[in-house]
Amino acid sequence: MEQTCILAIESSCDETAVAIVENTNQVLANVVATQIDVHKEFGGVIPEVASRIHVENISMVIAEALKKANKQVSDMDAIAVTKGPGLIGSLHVGVQAAKTLAWSFHKPLVPVHHICGHIYANALVKNLKYPMLALVVSGGHTELVYLKAEYEFEILGTTQDDAVGEAYDKVARVMGLPYPGGPQIDRLAKEGKPVYKLPHPKTAGEMDYSFSGLKSGVLQFIDRCKRKGETYVAADLAASFQETALDELLDKLKIAIDQKHPAQVVLAGGVAANSRLRERLTKLMEEAYPDIDYIIPPLSCCTDNAAMIGVAGTIAYQHGVRGDFDLTADCSMEM
Ligand code: KG4
Ligand code: ZN
Repeated sequence: MEQTCILAIESSCDETAVAIVENTNQVLANVVATQIDVHKEFGGVIPEVASRIHVENISMVIAEALKKANKQVSDMDAIAVTKGPGLIGSLHVGVQAAKTLAWSFHKPLVPVHHICGHIYANALVKNLKYPMLALVVSGGHTELVYLKAEYEFEILGTTQDDAVGEAYDKVARVMGLPYPGGPQIDRLAKEGKPVYKLPHPKTAGEMDYSFSGLKSGVLQFIDRCKRKGETYVAADLAASFQETALDELLDKLKIAIDQKHPAQVVLAGGVAANSRLRERLTKLMEEAYPDIDYIIPPLSCCTDNAAMIGVAGTIAYQHGVRGDFDLTADCSMEM
């Protein structure tokens, strides 16, 4: 396999991230400047604020990554960047920075799909096997993606409304928990029991997802308690929401495994950091599918970072993917 050294940029949401990745999965530097503390004050990401902070940070983050890796831009084989999906103003900052580097140093430019980044982040753990099935769970996506071979994607199912991370964040917000709500619900649910009955999602496609009904079910439950002057146990509500959401994720995953018989199952995206999902997926794979390999990425690879874009960028580069100088960000980019 050809030796490669790639500089990768990720700015699709509220992290300004740059990584230097050698030979597909050796991470020489992985710098993330997070904006969480700023957005926390507003209870969610404010897109205009996010893009302005990316502009302020991007040059420093690039310089820091190169310094940590002890490399120069001239040492790179290519510049990879998240083209989409994500917040358009945020994406533009990364794309423009990547185009500037590629133009100035005469380097190939490689556009990367953010979700491919989350999926290929698993190559940082161990060798990927195909056919592969990825359960993608993030703030913007909930998808079952089948990879018949490397760089061949088929979307088996997707959410028809909210993404699972979005549902976690919205439920946390109505429960008065700080942003981002996913880790808060995760923590709180450990102290509770899933005793409250919430609506199970209904979807048209057998591998599609839906989380808005469950989210509304939590809102209605809280409203009803307020109207009746009743109290509820927050930890029990967090556990009830979480178990219902995870039932949905894993039930559809089982259908996909039974239909596609993958060689490997991987978990991807910010919600992959959820401790109960990690526990339940481990149990499912060990007990029901002992012959299928699976990867649950370490916490550091789950939420947005540029190392994952470096891995996906290297694979895309090896498959001949290139961007021209008219490359632009695409907030709803398809896989
Ligand atoms: O992949 P990511 O960093 O950004 C997107 O591409 O969307 O995912 C962020 C999402 C947020 O919704 C956040 O609440 C959720 O991942 N998340 C979690 C946990 N850690 C992060 N959700 C549940 N449990 C967690 N421990
Ligand atoms: Zn992400």
